[in-house]
Amino acid sequence: MSITPFVKWAGGKRQIMNKLLEFKPKAFKRYYEPFIGGGALLLELLPSHATINDSNKELIYIYKCLRNKKLFKEFVRICKLHEEKHNEDYYYQIRDLDRKKRAYSQLSIPEKAARCLYLNKACFNGLYRVSNKGFFNVPSAKREKVKCFDDENISKLHKYFVKNRPIILSGDFSSAVKTAREGDFVYFDPPYDVVGEQSFTSYTANGFGKDEQIRLRDLINELTAKGVLVMTSNANTPFIQEIYNGFNIHIINAKRMINSNGDGRGDVEEVIITNY
Ligand SMILES: C[S@@+](CC[C@H](N)C(=O)[O-])C[C@H]1O[C@@H](n2cnc3c(N)ncnc32)[C@H](O)[C@@H]1O
Repeated sequence: MSITPFVKWAGGKRQIMNKLLEFKPKAFKRYYEPFIGGGALLLELLPSHATINDSNKELIYIYKCLRNKKLFKEFVRICKLHEEKHNEDYYYQIRDLDRKKRAYSQLSIPEKAARCLYLNKACFNGLYRVSNKGFFNVPSAKREKVKCFDDENISKLHKYFVKNRPIILSGDFSSAVKTAREGDFVYFDPPYDVVGEQSFTSYTANGFGKDEQIRLRDLINELTAKGVLVMTSNANTPFIQEIYNGFNIHIINAKRMINSNGDGRGDVEEVIITNY
């Protein structure tokens, strides 16, 4: 069953998928993905016991709809409505709903999820960016037509989520792995370390600084001591090389599709780090 991610997401892992599959453990018990984003690796592995998490609550509403038949039906209906009504004015009307706090808080989960997916498909470059007030502020891509999803792909996704009922969380990466035990596999795909100002890091209102990279590394040390199998990806920077000294570091070349400098399609070296 081949399923592809339903969102274009900064840091999407499609380009380095063959490398992730090469370096993942041969066997494991349960699967954890604490920075799920578009979930490219989850959708390759389709594990029967999984815990997924992202601090981006809007994105997580979509996953919640995928796992529940009633929510899913309503989500699909609203997505189709957005497709029908789509034009420039409509895009900004839906985008700016989060500026009216009360109105926004009254939206149902399928309404929030459909808004998130519609904005992802209709906005410029599939970026997710919010202002310091937390308002989604990416301009429209000015597309004539917008398709929220491929019907066959979304129903395969729904089937997988309904059948396997992964645990879905929307908090910090550290709380997502509290239940991980020996033999479980955790794949961490954090926002990447940045050198200079070229890279896009503001996935949410708060970025992911060097202090966060160190907090993640410390957590990986704790998981390693418990016998949990850990793989993580990042940019190949001197800082990452330094903090993961002692781990297995595999250097790979990747074509990054989302970059802040517009042309952003150059080759960037990345690393896949494992504790096994
Ligand atoms: C590099 S992206 C993951 C890309 C994903 N692997 C894919 O294939 O699309 C990083 C994700 O981490 C999330 N994130 C950022 N800080 C976080 C935190 N402290 N805890 C959990 N998730 C976080 C962002 O919302 C973003 O979706």
